[in-house]
Amino acid sequence: MSKYKNPFFIEKWRILCYSNGMKKILIINGPNLNMLGKRQVDIYGRETLDEIITQCQTQAKQYNMAVEGFQDNVEGNIVTRINQAFGQQYHGVVINGGAYTHTSVAIRDALAMLTCPIIEVHLSNIHAREEFRHFSYISAIARAVVVGMGSFGYISAIHYLGQLQDKP
Ligand code: DQA
Repeated sequence: MSKYKNPFFIEKWRILCYSNGMKKILIINGPNLNMLGKRQVDIYGRETLDEIITQCQTQAKQYNMAVEGFQDNVEGNIVTRINQAFGQQYHGVVINGGAYTHTSVAIRDALAMLTCPIIEVHLSNIHAREEFRHFSYISAIARAVVVGMGSFGYISAIHYLGQLQDKP
């Protein structure tokens, strides 16, 4: 089991963040993003999701923020994870909903309950691809949308949230 899914690791991580006064960022990834590095590398690149999350964690440290990664292929599990984030005082949520971006009212409704900024990220430029990828249920409730910058989209979301820290 990836450490990002291990409940003991997640709980230890939360306690550590609180005791260090660190702000927490949750990065949620939807279906098939567990296959990054192997999946259509010409479109999505050669980095694995673990490598991307590790880079985000490294960048977040300079802002005294901690990053938690979550990935699931099942829509309901993603909704449940977002529901768990409700009331947990995340400084921000970064989400790449994968294909659910274009279909899921349930994920949008769950995100709409959160009060922290939501940054939507896509590795590819969804607007330059098939028409069914042009619409996102998430964009209208996101603070910002980053598309087409590959893994740097996630990193730039971390820097954006970092510089937001002392601002409303
Ligand atoms: C994606 C774009 C989606 O259309 C696709 O279904 C994905 C990945 C991206 O990061 O570019 O799974 O979200």
